[in-house]
Amino acid sequence: MRNIIMEFTFLILLNTYGVSDSITFKMTNAQCISHNKSWVRINECRLKAINRNKVVFNFNATLFYPTPDIRVTYRYFKRENGYKPFLINIEIDSCRFLRKPYNFVGVMIWNFFRNFTNANHTCPMSGDLLVKNMFLTIEPFKGLPWPSGDYLFATSWKFYRKPQFDVNISFQFIEDFV
Ligand SMILES: *[C@@H]1O[C@H](CO)[C@@H](O)[C@H](O)[C@H]1NC(C)=O
Ligand SMILES: *[C@@H]1O[C@H](CO)[C@@H](O)[C@H](O)[C@H]1NC(C)=O
Ligand SMILES: *[C@@H]1O[C@H](CO)[C@@H](O)[C@H](O)[C@H]1NC(C)=O
Ligand SMILES: *[C@@H]1O[C@H](CO)[C@@H](O)[C@H](O)[C@H]1NC(C)=O
Repeated sequence: MRNIIMEFTFLILLNTYGVSDSITFKMTNAQCISHNKSWVRINECRLKAINRNKVVFNFNATLFYPTPDIRVTYRYFKRENGYKPFLINIEIDSCRFLRKPYNFVGVMIWNFFRNFTNANHTCPMSGDLLVKNMFLTIEPFKGLPWPSGDYLFATSWKFYRKPQFDVNISFQFIEDFV
């Protein structure tokens, strides 16, 4: 209970001070790799620049067999002389999460993707898994202390606890206080 209250206090503080005039928040690179091509084929994994401040991500992978067991490890790295682990390293049981979101960090990550993916239903997952024209918005990012810099968001997908594919997205977050 105490932890929850502290977390909320922290959130409120961040949200009140974290107002700034100019924010750059965009993806800079995307890489996807299948570790098991007889199950997962990556058809598309690409960034497209719409304008100077907006970059969209498109992802299309075919799952040749359905899976009711998906676990995803989400890790953030911050670039400073190489990539250093930053704050988040968490495994989410995605099928459980899609039935009922159960984790604060999981919700933050899901909020980046939920409006852009066809994976917004409960498991099993099968067929084409899509992310269409996703772009970063600052809303889900609030509530955690992100310093300006270059980051890597690394996701590793397991079916039945065995690695099947990775999706890695680099992004830049720069907040200019005026
Ligand atoms: C790779 O995919 C096949 C299905 O095409 C599956 O039977 C096999 O268990 C998978 N391998 C691993 C290591 O998960
Ligand atoms: C996803 O890729 C598959 C295989 O290339 C293609 O048939 C399908 O049309 C693609 N889906 C979308 C929405 O682009
Ligand atoms: C998702 O879409 C809903 C409805 O259009 C919108 O209210 C919400 O802010 C969007 N969420 C994100 C993270 O973009
Ligand atoms: C999933 O996304 C589709 C297309 O954006 C939308 O029509 C549908 O209502 C969403 N379903 C859920 C459960 O959010």
